[in-house]
Amino acid sequence: MATEGVDLKKRRMLTNAVTVAGAVGAGFVAVPFLASWAPSERAKTAGAPVEVDISKMQDGAMMTVEWQGKPVWIVKRTARNLEDLPTLNEQLRDPASENEQQPDYARNGDRSIKPQILVLVGICTHLGCSPSYRPDLAAADLGADWKGGFFCPCHGSRFDLAGRVYQGVPAPLNLEVPPHRYLSDTTIIIGEDGGAA
Ligand code: FES
Repeated sequence: MATEGVDLKKRRMLTNAVTVAGAVGAGFVAVPFLASWAPSERAKTAGAPVEVDISKMQDGAMMTVEWQGKPVWIVKRTARNLEDLPTLNEQLRDPASENEQQPDYARNGDRSIKPQILVLVGICTHLGCSPSYRPDLAAADLGADWKGGFFCPCHGSRFDLAGRVYQGVPAPLNLEVPPHRYLSDTTIIIGEDGGAA
């Protein structure tokens, strides 16, 4: 009888130990699951659309904002820049923007909603460097027929002032136009287009 009493006691202790271990185990399983399921506040902020006031931009100016951890450029093109764009078509890989590098509303000669305002993700389509803004016409290092655009210092890719890639450079695709729309004449929201794409 005494042995039975000890066995019973032992069994209860074991049962309790298993229950506690089970609860702890469940806790360890549940926490990472919840953590991976719910996006962190930081991730939500990083992915959120960004509102940009362009009211102070002068012709030829560029500003950079961050969206989803990426640089997004906004360029206010000059009338001369817009006139030059169609003259470059022969030198470009995808002048009509046939590749999926922009929403449908930016699949046009200027790759933009309003001709003067260009919005691009500032990441080279070759290996991801950030190209430089080079609006200077006939720049000494880029050639007498340079009409302004973007130059990637990593391997020499060139893009025009609509983000269209030139032929004969390593980058395979035009720069990406992110989803965006106008909240007013002078405010753009980047990262959201109300499903217009
Ligand atoms: S990363 Fe731009 S040319 Fe290679």
